[in-house]
Amino acid sequence: TRILLLNGPNLNMLGVREPSVYGSQTLTELVSDLQDYAAARQLELSHLQSNAEHELVGRIQQSLGQIDFIIINPGAFTHTSIAIRDALLAVAIPFIEVHISNVHAREDFRKQSYLSDIARGVICGLGPQGYRFALDAAVSYVSSNP
Ligand code: DQA
Repeated sequence: TRILLLNGPNLNMLGVREPSVYGSQTLTELVSDLQDYAAARQLELSHLQSNAEHELVGRIQQSLGQIDFIIINPGAFTHTSIAIRDALLAVAIPFIEVHISNVHAREDFRKQSYLSDIARGVICGLGPQGYRFALDAAVSYVSSNP
């Protein structure tokens, strides 16, 4: 099973960025833990973090026929990006939207997502563990929808 993990803008600042909201783990640590978790389950996990919308759109487009499932934390693009929504609709690859923080317990503008209604599911507010829950859900989704 080929899984693509996408992290949007400012997630490269994990560990430094508002630790009371996002925790102290860096993105490098988080991704390397997930790689171990994925490897133990015979999953192929690729990762891209980008601060640029066009790079995320490009990577989603390239996933057509190459990737079985996407896990995406779009960062602030969650609340703004019709382009990422359209790319996910274009490739029609099932995906889970992950947020480290509980976006519903923060500013009103974070309650709106351009992705949630087309996602298989949304995980938010559970910290970095949310990514692992998303991996588990991806595995069970892919095994029941071969
Ligand atoms: C976030 C929540 C977004 O509102 C914010 O812009 C982020 C991170 C999260 O993981 O909690 O950059 O996606």
